[in-house]
Amino acid sequence: MPGLATRLLTPADMDEAVRLLHAGEVVAFPTETVYGLGANALRVEAVSRIYAAKGRPSDNPLIVHAHHRSQIHQIAREWHSDADRLMNAFWPGPLTLVLPKQAVVPYAVSGGLDTVAVRIPNHPVALRLLAESGLFLAAPSANVSGRPSPTRAEHVWQDLYGRIAAVLDGGPCGCGVESSVVDCTETPFRLLRPGGVTLEALQACVPSLLDGSVAVLPDEVPRSPGMKYQHYSPTADVMVILHDPDLQLLRAKVERAQRAGQRVGAMVVSEHRSLVPAGALVLDMGPRDDLPRIAQSLFHLLREADARRLDAVFVEGLPETALGRTVMNRLRKASGGKIVDAETMQGGDDR
Ligand code: TXA
Ligand code: MG
Repeated sequence: MPGLATRLLTPADMDEAVRLLHAGEVVAFPTETVYGLGANALRVEAVSRIYAAKGRPSDNPLIVHAHHRSQIHQIAREWHSDADRLMNAFWPGPLTLVLPKQAVVPYAVSGGLDTVAVRIPNHPVALRLLAESGLFLAAPSANVSGRPSPTRAEHVWQDLYGRIAAVLDGGPCGCGVESSVVDCTETPFRLLRPGGVTLEALQACVPSLLDGSVAVLPDEVPRSPGMKYQHYSPTADVMVILHDPDLQLLRAKVERAQRAGQRVGAMVVSEHRSLVPAGALVLDMGPRDDLPRIAQSLFHLLREADARRLDAVFVEGLPETALGRTVMNRLRKASGGKIVDAETMQGGDDR
């Protein structure tokens, strides 16, 4: 697969992006959440190119992107009226609904399941691409499997140059974390992956909706196949530190790693920049109360850790409400579960 001369397109080259998609090629495109790796969702050869480019296990299903509500019945069927409520409230936007699939959706897209994940993205370039191609686009996040999701065209370029036909550059993504995924195939509905739409907002719309994204029991089959894979990891070792208001523990960890000769970063809210020990790289997440900004910067900062060739990154934990829940979900995965609670000193390792 490496060896393709990947092209960098702009929205002015929309016709070329459409032509490549019609030819069964893979084109990365911007959405409001993260960049997606798009191909014709109804053609198996096109879809298999996505899995090959990403290095993704084929049992991990893809989200199908559509341009308009009126198209959804072509790919999904028989959904509960509460799913209509969610569509009305949050589409176009960062919400993906898992619905029973129509036969036209290949099992290559659904990972062998009888369901399909669907969303209408809220990004002008994505919507134009969907409208002008007239296609349903299967699109996972446009990173190599396991890496932080891409929120800028250059992130896609770094991961996938030579493996895909083109990247359509639409600038940085505004939301910065992936869509929330809700399983609507059974009642009560369950949130499988927290994302750009908060659990609180979803429950305000459908009060019976449950949070199904918290720890899966060891012998329980994950409802969302993607939940079982390691994710979002930079090469640097990531550790998250909870309940450490003056960063005492975080600072001690940074200094200890520095003494051991490591290149160290500290990912903290803007208010805490000045608390980071000298010599450590400050990765500023944004003001504490600006969760949308923190979410938007998250994956870029994790990639920055690699660009600066850091060995270790210590991250200040956030309260797990609203978008803080989404950010902490991604950080748990990026750290491979290395989370220390400064109050109880539980968790992590002995660094
Ligand atoms: O914001 C997003 O959702 C981005 C943009 C490009 O739209 N896409 C994205 O796709 O994050 P991906 O493939 O990286 O994550 C899709 C998630 C995975 O956890 C996958 O397992 C789950 O959705 N999923 C997809 N189809 C499913 C299905 N039929 N049932 C349950 N989970 C499903
Ligand atoms: Mg992904």
